[in-house]
Amino acid sequence: MARHLITSALPYINGIKHLGNMVGSMLPADVYSRYLRQRGHDVLYICATDEHGTPAELAAKEQGLPVDVFCAQAHDAQKAVYDGFDLAFDHFGRSSSPQNVEITQHFARRLHENGFIEERSIRQVYSPADGRFLPDRYVEGTCPHCGYDKARGDQCENCTRVLDPTDLLDPRSAISGSTDLEVRETKHLFLLQSKLQHEVEEWVARHEEEWPHLAASIARKWLTEGLHDRSITRDLDWGVPVPADTWPELAAEGKVFYVWFDAPIEYIAATKEWADSAPDGETRDWRSWWYEADDTVRYTEFMAKDNVPFHTVMFPATQLGVREPWKKVDYVKAFNWLTYYGGKFSTSQKRGVFTDQALDILPADYWRYFLIANAPESDDSSFTWEHFTATVNKDLADTLGNFVNRVLSFSKKRFGEEVPAGGEPGEAETRLGEEIASLLAEYESQMEAKQFRKAAAALRALWSAGNSYLEEKAPWLEIKTDKDGAALTLRTAMNLIRLYAVVSEPFIPATSAAMRQVFSLADDTAAWVSAEEARALTSVPAGTPFTVPPVLFAKLTDDDLDAYKERFGGEPESA
Ligand code: 2FM
Ligand code: ZN
Repeated sequence: MARHLITSALPYINGIKHLGNMVGSMLPADVYSRYLRQRGHDVLYICATDEHGTPAELAAKEQGLPVDVFCAQAHDAQKAVYDGFDLAFDHFGRSSSPQNVEITQHFARRLHENGFIEERSIRQVYSPADGRFLPDRYVEGTCPHCGYDKARGDQCENCTRVLDPTDLLDPRSAISGSTDLEVRETKHLFLLQSKLQHEVEEWVARHEEEWPHLAASIARKWLTEGLHDRSITRDLDWGVPVPADTWPELAAEGKVFYVWFDAPIEYIAATKEWADSAPDGETRDWRSWWYEADDTVRYTEFMAKDNVPFHTVMFPATQLGVREPWKKVDYVKAFNWLTYYGGKFSTSQKRGVFTDQALDILPADYWRYFLIANAPESDDSSFTWEHFTATVNKDLADTLGNFVNRVLSFSKKRFGEEVPAGGEPGEAETRLGEEIASLLAEYESQMEAKQFRKAAAALRALWSAGNSYLEEKAPWLEIKTDKDGAALTLRTAMNLIRLYAVVSEPFIPATSAAMRQVFSLADDTAAWVSAEEARALTSVPAGTPFTVPPVLFAKLTDDDLDAYKERFGGEPESA
């Protein structure tokens, strides 16, 4: 059995994430992790908050909090939302952890020893009024490319071009607004990625065939443009300090590593956090996942497409330059954008649906199913309230929820509170069993291929097959002429409910648990359903006590739809 290491891109600490972030990293990683665990694999699903960098410092400032206090609170707030979404991380860490300081500094020292880090003097924006250098977003001004007057020092939000703070026209400090800025010389560490270009190319060439097109093409594009040496330190108060034993002068100046240097290293460090936080009596071996890991460890990363260059090219370059056997990614699952009515979800402009608001409105399973069924896998996909409410009503309320309630209520009314006995499976049951077994195989193979939309379609087809069977057999008519036949139909349908409970878990874990609790089966530890069980549909025998659960999915009304559109806006402002 493979051991599956799974990570999802680390969400920035500043602010609760929107549904677009959720569907492009954490949620599919959770669905995949849950599936693999159910299939008996050893899974380690790691994520963390990405806490360093200017956005964290600026957000803390806005709230009038010291940055460490801000981060601790913001971490807990994000964690609470992810718990609400039923994300089953093995560990949700923090990139500001001591473990990350230790491993990041270790990486830097090794890169230095191997000749891949160099000190260089550069010209940087300095603000006498603030008494400090102004990296990245600390400078705002007019974009030299498009003229947008609120461009940030690292990037123009309007034309998306990557900028250097010294590129901006009419620059001003984002802290004090001061326009009295000068350019001063200062020393920084540079990672000599150009020296690693060749090795990274070879490494990518060995892996890209297996990667999805989106990830491979982005990696190729970056390599074709050439890897440039890049500054990996910043003048900030908050970050992993440059180690004084190696760079005393820079350490004395208070330089810290650039957030994109330490963030991916946190995947490793968070695994160490997981091991270090083991309860008494349990030992957890973090190294076996990451260091000299054998071939049984398979590492899959989940992220949105803007993160792909960092994960396919830059972080591997760092890992290669360290000259130690750290585990590198095997499979990069990349996502396009989820849009809000065709426009951008935007954290900074508060447009779209945020994950905490989503949970205010409806339980996690509604969102989990909808988002994965419409994941932006091969292309961008658009969130609209019309589509959301229609999908909930059709797939969740009608096809699954109504089936469960209808079957159980009717059986209870006619046969009492045990799975009814009587009748022998016939031609209809054989056909159903074949169909269910083949749809289950399709579902499994799409999950293994990490094709989540197609997996959702297969799951939906499994639910639909139950409805078709019920319509065909019509036990509410059967009961009038053939009581045993009706009992057989209902018993078979109840076996479908039980199968749905097991196999729907990766998508809708809470509802699956509720469906599982319907039947009081003596020894109910089954993690998955075999092809034979799917064909036979007899795992829940006659005589098994059951209960009728409350309605699994509420139907959303036109009034609900209007209320959502009213609250969140039916269209993006800029469309
Ligand atoms: O784009 C982002 O949201 C980043 N915080 C992702 C970091 S992923 C990793 F490498 F840490
Ligand atoms: Zn611009």
